[in-house]
Amino acid sequence: MQRDPRFDILFESVRIGPVVAKNRFFQVPHCNGMGHAMPQAHAAMREVKAEGGWAVICTEECEIHPSGDVSPYVEARLWDDHDIPALQLMCERVHAHGALAGIELTHNGPTASNLYSREVLLAPSHQPSKYGYPAQARAMDKRDIADYRRWHRNAALRARSAGFDLIYVYAGHDLSLAMHFLQKRRNQRSDEYGGSLENRVRLLREVIQDTKDAVGDTCGVVVRFATEELLGDGGVTLSEAKEVVHMLADLPDLWDVNLAAWYNDSVPSRFAREGAQEPFIDWVKKVTSKPVVGVGRFTSPDTMVSQIRRGVLDMIGAARPSIADPYLPKKIEEGRLDDIRECIGCNICVAGDNTVTPIRCTQNPTMGEEWRKGWHPERMAPKKSGAKVLIVGSGPTGLEAARALGQRGYEVHLAEGRPELGGRVSLESRLPGLAEWARVRDWRLGQIKTMPNVHVYRGSQIGAREVLEFGANHVLLATGCHWRRDGFGRSNGLGIKGSGQAAILTPDDIMNGLIPDGPVVVFDDDYFYYASTIADQLCKHKRPVYYVTPDDTIASWSNNTLDYRHIQARMHALGVEQIVSSNIAEFKGDRVVLEHVWSGKVSELSCAAVVAITARLPQDALYQELLTMESAWPAAGIQSVKCAGDALAPGLIAHAVYAGHRYARELDEVPAGDVPFRRHLHTSFT
Ligand SMILES: Cc1cc2nc3c(=O)[nH]c(=O)nc-3n(C[C@H](O)[C@H](O)[C@H](O)COP(=O)(O)O)c2cc1C
Ligand code: SF4
Repeated sequence: MQRDPRFDILFESVRIGPVVAKNRFFQVPHCNGMGHAMPQAHAAMREVKAEGGWAVICTEECEIHPSGDVSPYVEARLWDDHDIPALQLMCERVHAHGALAGIELTHNGPTASNLYSREVLLAPSHQPSKYGYPAQARAMDKRDIADYRRWHRNAALRARSAGFDLIYVYAGHDLSLAMHFLQKRRNQRSDEYGGSLENRVRLLREVIQDTKDAVGDTCGVVVRFATEELLGDGGVTLSEAKEVVHMLADLPDLWDVNLAAWYNDSVPSRFAREGAQEPFIDWVKKVTSKPVVGVGRFTSPDTMVSQIRRGVLDMIGAARPSIADPYLPKKIEEGRLDDIRECIGCNICVAGDNTVTPIRCTQNPTMGEEWRKGWHPERMAPKKSGAKVLIVGSGPTGLEAARALGQRGYEVHLAEGRPELGGRVSLESRLPGLAEWARVRDWRLGQIKTMPNVHVYRGSQIGAREVLEFGANHVLLATGCHWRRDGFGRSNGLGIKGSGQAAILTPDDIMNGLIPDGPVVVFDDDYFYYASTIADQLCKHKRPVYYVTPDDTIASWSNNTLDYRHIQARMHALGVEQIVSSNIAEFKGDRVVLEHVWSGKVSELSCAAVVAITARLPQDALYQELLTMESAWPAAGIQSVKCAGDALAPGLIAHAVYAGHRYARELDEVPAGDVPFRRHLHTSFT
């Protein structure tokens, strides 16, 4: 297929100082939980994106000195020459596909931890560390500032010798000294680095200049700059940001502009649409003659073209869209728009970094597995036999298994009991704000539609006898799960007393359209997104909602996906009453008995119903029945019966997609052994 000429503009080259990007697709810095600890895995992940057509591939933030150590987070590192080879690996892989490699140098100042290095934290002025470590950062004196500039300059030189083409000066996300000096709330200095904006911008100007002097003859110098923190006067504000860009307009070779902090930048789709940052950055191009990159979870090529034609951006920055589909540019170039695996904005990728584990993605199950499992987002080994596969259940596991097996060339039959395909994805994507999650279903169905070897049967209830009679060689049960109605969960190992009464509801009831009359207690013993989306849905139907949780705050796990603040704001805006640190001791039909988890104090709350979000149970009856019939498998031609996804152990949609993908990868392959992936092993102890 050919590229649509209306997208030609996306494939024009862009000069960035002394280097040229071959097109306008720019993978902005994003961490990945692998960083300096897993250089081969990191390089392989970046390589796949270069292969997929991105003109620029950046690292994540890169520490330049032990006094800016961000452990336990695993980011890139360039403390001294020992760190060069790991990053060289990435540059070689990126260059092999004609892309430029960029590195985001940073010193995190008071937003570092120094938990590993045990150095004293540094900051413009004395202040507490950002992330709650019980230690303060000390005010930098003039020698410290000189040291910091030297570390940055040396890191830039090292980055160049590693092979990088673009060197960042980072002043974004409230995560770097260059930005901390700009912020009034972090900078109370009275010397030439504090006070007036001219003074507060001095360090940023000097570091850009230093970097240009050090490497600017061969490398493009990029500034990542936060144009708004949404914190009012203590933060960087739009009006100050405009002045800063005026002051520095043509000093860098490229501006990469976005919102701070991270939760205002990588906003989940539940709270921000594609291109939402435009009002905060659309003025930058008018101030500088240098190219401008911006972000906004861009997955639509029409939106990208519009940003460029309207003079908002020169290059399309992307983190999440490049994670969900490393081949996004190539697919546009080849006119394969329907093949684009669009990011759903769930931020499970972000949770990897926040839980200090290798990145994963709901839409792209190969993300983070490029090196350790040799998985490629576009390529799979052809089928190893003429086996026929029956999959029962068309949720995320069943759909992904069917798609991936179809790609391998197997004859696949996918049976769904309901008239609607998609399982939990179809149900959840109808909840307020989660519409984009339907992309998990829609992309897979779109792919399957083009595969004559994959057959889909809707409304097809199938029992053990039918499975045996079907003539399949392999059977995958992907029959999903359901929420428990007895209140069993983390806080109530014996369930909730009185839970036999009819009015105890589950998220399944609400997602299937049941709305109780009167006030509802949403009981969250799950701690992620479910309770707030159920509360949102009930509010939509004008029901008063009490959000009760044994945890000390609502939706605590959503801190990992950057939803937390947005969920809090939404619950407050909806008038949802939060009752935290409270367990349900008993449900009496018209009221709940609450017990405070710390004081033990008991109280009662009138309500018409309780929605218990506590735990789920696999729907694995068919699997269990088939296991009891194992002796009949050979005569039926069945070689294997497996159960995967929520039907095995309920989890995230990301887990379910991964499970389906893994099943498809491993069918007919030699089992991987007890450790089913490669590891970075420290074999040199000198
Ligand atoms: C998993 C993940 C890690 C990120 N890590 C960084 C980082 O190390 N440095 C940085 O400047 N921005 C980081 N970001 C922010 C992105 O660069 C980007 O500005 C943001 O995600 C918005 O772009 P998007 O909508 O295309 O994802 C990260 C984003 C994600 C999703
Ligand atoms: S994990 Fe979710 S938000 Fe992150 S890239 Fe994948 S689909 Fe997008």
